[in-house]
Amino acid sequence: MKDLQIGVMASGRGSNFQSIIDAIESDYLKNVEISLLITDNAAAYAIERAQKHGIPHLVLKPKEFDSRDAYYEYVALELKKRDIGLVVLAGFMRIVGKPVIDQFPNRIMNIHPALLPSFPGFHGQKQAADYGVKISGCTVHFVDEGMDTGPIIIQAAVSVRDDDTEDALSERILKLEHKIYPEAIRLFAEGRLDVRGHTVIIKGMTYEDGCITNPPLPD
Ligand code: GAR
Repeated sequence: MKDLQIGVMASGRGSNFQSIIDAIESDYLKNVEISLLITDNAAAYAIERAQKHGIPHLVLKPKEFDSRDAYYEYVALELKKRDIGLVVLAGFMRIVGKPVIDQFPNRIMNIHPALLPSFPGFHGQKQAADYGVKISGCTVHFVDEGMDTGPIIIQAAVSVRDDDTEDALSERILKLEHKIYPEAIRLFAEGRLDVRGHTVIIKGMTYEDGCITNPPLPD
C-alpha cells in the first residue's frame, strides 16, 4: 500500500481526475494511490476512467439519503474505511457537508476555474469573461464550510482575450488545472503544506519573478 491514499469526488467528465491518474502512472506523484472514486452522478464519465484504471467507485446520490447530513456522514464513513489521507474534489458540483469537513480538516482539496476569491461558485470562467477581467486562471484550495473560501494552495493565470468565448477561456484554464492539481497533491504528499490561519505556507519554496501582463507591455 502506498503512503498516501486519495479519495476523489467527481460529478462529471473527470478530466482533472484523469490528470491525477496520469501523474501517478507517470511517477510525477510518488507513493500516492487513488483508492476510491465517489460520484453523485451515475452517468459521470469519471466512472469509465476509474474502471479503466482499476479504481473502485461508488455512486452515492444525496436524494437517496434522509438528509444532507446523513449523506455526508455516509460519505465520510466510506472514506474513513479506506484510510483516506486526502480527499480531492475534481469537478464535484456540490458544497461538501460538515460531517466530511470535520473528519478531514485541511485534508480536502478543491479546484476552481478562476482566481479566487474572485468568481466563486458555478461558471467561474463565464463570470470572469462577463466581468471583463484581463487575467483569470485557476485555484487549488483547501476546503472549509464556505463556497470556495478555504486557504489557497496554488494558482495559475491566463490572459483573457477580447474575443474569448466561455468555452475558449475554459479550455485554456483547464490545461492549467491539469498541471496545478497534481502539483498541489505532490506538495501535500511530501508534507510541505502548512496551514497558518488562512494562509498555506509551502516549505522549501523558491519563487519566480515572471509575470503575465494583459495587454502586454511594449519591449
Ligand atoms: C473544472 O473546470 C473544475 O475547475 C470545475 O469543473 C470542471 C470539472 O471538469 N469546478 C468547479 O467549477 C467547481 N466550482 P472535469 O470534470 O473535467 O475535471
